[in-house]
Amino acid sequence: MNAGLIGIGKYVPPAILTNADLEKRMDTSDEWIRTMTGIEERHIADDTIDTSHMAYYAALEAIKDANIQPEDIGLILVATVTPDQPFPSVATMLQRKIGATNAAAMDISAACAGFMYGVVTAKQFVESDTYRNVLVVGVEKLSKITNWEDRNTAVLFGDGAGAAIVSKVSEGRGILSFELGADGTGGKHLYQDEKIVMNGREVFKFAVRQMGESAESVIEKAGLEKKDVDFLIPHQANIRIMNSARERLGLPIEKMSKTIHKYGNTSAASIPISLVDDIEAGRVKDDDVLVLVGFGGGLTWGALCIKWGK
Ligand code: UT7
Repeated sequence: MNAGLIGIGKYVPPAILTNADLEKRMDTSDEWIRTMTGIEERHIADDTIDTSHMAYYAALEAIKDANIQPEDIGLILVATVTPDQPFPSVATMLQRKIGATNAAAMDISAACAGFMYGVVTAKQFVESDTYRNVLVVGVEKLSKITNWEDRNTAVLFGDGAGAAIVSKVSEGRGILSFELGADGTGGKHLYQDEKIVMNGREVFKFAVRQMGESAESVIEKAGLEKKDVDFLIPHQANIRIMNSARERLGLPIEKMSKTIHKYGNTSAASIPISLVDDIEAGRVKDDDVLVLVGFGGGLTWGALCIKWGK
């Protein structure tokens, strides 16, 4: 039996920063941000909410949704590039907060592809019968490493968390295929030097190519064709990048997840946050074939083809 996602949850901090708010702080416009990125607003965590708090709220929802107890979790994987502190890991902080006394815990650093790396790692442990339940969280407080003087990057990012419980699911459902990859030669295009530094053009070109290729690759590895895909959940980095992946798969606009207008780019959290909203809105149903695909600093990328349902 395949591993799949038996419970999901999300958290975004309450404070909202709109494009109009940004217009007051820097030389930008709502029109530019909407047209060039698709972003209208983003949630920003204040000083009282750190990465581990957001991870905690999202994890609680996922645990409840999966109908398990914290003691049933064998491993906690937290994908983040904005931990509360370098160590101890956010995963161990989360282990204490939720009381997952039987769980091993570690963080994963794969930037915006981190949730994909986490779920694929969890799948290996679940399908080898090492752990019955693995908690995977993608969480970022990017606002604390955003350079608010740099309009090229400051308008893009938001804070939030998404979580999933990875466990075995019923026959025919679950993770059908995956792809992970990295190209360290592109590390210079997106990195943290106290604050985020990005060559937007280079990342854009890479993203357009990689999102399409990875999505096609997981469809093929699952033994499926593009027409079999019911819904695409791309990393919410830029609506133009997302649409290019969608068009490559020949999918209409309503078959793609779009939450970027509300949350901006939440890096490792963007795919699980979108998944939660899509499930809640009824856009994703049991037995739908989903393609999840992300890319990020590293450079890294990852994709999953999932037949949805427990
Ligand atoms: O999770 C992965 C993280 N990163 C990404 O996914 C980012 C990928 N890259 C992108 O999304 C795009 O490169 C951006 C949205 C960041 C920028 O779009 P672009 O089409 O690459 O534009 P550009 O950087 O070449 O800038 C075009 C113009 C420039 O002005 P000039 O030189 O043509 O006069 C910029 O200075 O837009 C200007 N500009 C802005 N104007 C208003 C750049 N940022 C802003 C801004 N407001 N916030």
